[in-house]
This record gives sequence, structure tokens and C-alpha cells, in this order.
Amino acid sequence: MAVKAGAILRPAVRAALVAVAVVLTAPLWLPARLQAWLTGGEGVFAGCSEVLSLFPALPGVYLRRGFYRMCLESCALDCHIGFGTTLAHPQARIGRGVYVGNRCILGRVVIGDHVAIGSNVDVLSGRHQHHFDRRDVPIQEQGGTFAPVRIGRNSWVGNGAVVMADVGDECVIGAGSVVVRPIPAGAVAVGNPAAVKKWRDRPEAA
Ligand SMILES: CC(C)(COP(=O)(O)OP(=O)(O)OC[C@H]1O[C@@H](n2cnc3c(N)ncnc32)[C@H](O)[C@@H]1OP(=O)(O)O)[C@@H](O)C(=O)NCCC(=O)NCCS
Repeated sequence: MAVKAGAILRPAVRAALVAVAVVLTAPLWLPARLQAWLTGGEGVFAGCSEVLSLFPALPGVYLRRGFYRMCLESCALDCHIGFGTTLAHPQARIGRGVYVGNRCILGRVVIGDHVAIGSNVDVLSGRHQHHFDRRDVPIQEQGGTFAPVRIGRNSWVGNGAVVMADVGDECVIGAGSVVVRPIPAGAVAVGNPAAVKKWRDRPEAA
């Protein structure tokens, strides 16, 4: 009976605390949404993300939940976005039970349920944010492509990885790896560029 009560109460308390965080962060997400609606700009969102990344411990986790709940395309109530972690764009989706460690930078990401991301991980919006074919024009003025990068459910990305392409469901990405091509579901991929080293259900196979 006590277990059942806990299982019901915990999500209810969490939802109530996120609601409080939504109210407390209204001075941040309201201007961010207003800017996006009026001009399509993302500067206020990015600035607020930086400010909120500086709040430590559980209060910080809740404040970020409240803000991202109101700004992102979707953000689960129970996700953990760590200290120092920032999101560059509101076009992001964060699933249930997601854990993102400290000091990460997230672009246009779609993070599946129960994904674990270590610390100092960069998940970029693809690989081609800047075109560079012309040498007579500064790279920053040549435009580029921001593509969503997906990390499949129940995958684990180790510390210091840089992810620029999709990661399938149930994958493991080694610490310090650089993902430049899509990684198939169930793979353990390591290195730069990340290559499949083995499979989670067939540890011996290369
Ligand atoms: C990827 C990882 C999970 C592999 O663990 P494992 O299944 O025990 O794999 P093994 O130790 O048997 O290594 C298999 C091979 O991959 C290599 N390898 C393992 N991790 C690697 C990494 N991060 N980068 C490059 N190569 C790696 C090993 O050297 C070994 O190579 P070999 O077959 O040529 O000898 C682990 O090494 C790792 O990177 N963990 C992340 C830890 C982390 O970031 N924690 C904090 C966040 S929660």
C-alpha cells in the first residue's frame, strides 16, 4: 500500500513543483516566447537558458524543467538537465526519464525516453551550421543548415562526446567519441570518428 501511495504521490509532487517553477520562470519564458512569436528570433531563449544553467542542485533542475516545459517543443516533467548545460534553440524535444549531465551544449535535439548523457557532451544541430564553399566571404556570412539530431531511447552517451548525427535506440557511445555518421540501434560505438565496436546483445561480435 505504501509503495502504491508513493508511486502516485511522487509524480503529483513533481508536477506541483514544476508548476511552481513555471510561475517563477515566467519573466524568462514569456519574453522568449514573445520574441519567437514576433520576430522568429531565439536570442532571448538562448540568454535565458544560459542564466538558468547557473542555478545549482535540485532547485536549478526544477527551474530548468519549468522554463523548458514552456519553451521547448516538448519536455518531460521528470527530465534532469544538469548544472551549466545550455540549449541553443527552442526546437528541441526531451523525453521521459532523460538525464543530461553538467556543462553540455544541446542544439536541435530529439532525445528519446530514458537517454543518459554524461557531462561535457555537445549534441550539435548536424554537421553543417556554416557553409564554407566561398573564400571571398566570411564563413559566418555564408549561411548554413541546422538539422535535428536524434538520440534514440535508452541510449547512453559518455562524457565529452560530440554528437553530430543520429544515434539509434539502445546504443552506447564511448566517452570522448565523435559521432559523424548515424549509429545503428543497439550498437556500442567508440572513437573519432565513432565506429561500431560491438553490439549490446552480441558483446563478442565486432
Ligand atoms: C564505451 C564503454 C561503455 C565501453 O565499455 P565496455 O563494453 O566495457 O568496452 P571495453 O572496455 O571492452 O572496450 C571495447 C573496445 O573499445 C575501446 N574503447 C572503449 N571505450 C572507448 C572510448 N571511450 N573511446 C575509444 N575506444 C574505447 C577499448 O579500448 C576496446 O578496444 P579493443 O577491443 O581494441 O581493445 C566505456 O569505455 C565508456 O566510454 N564509458 C563511458 C563512461 C562515462 O563517460 N561515464 C560518465 C558518464 S555517466
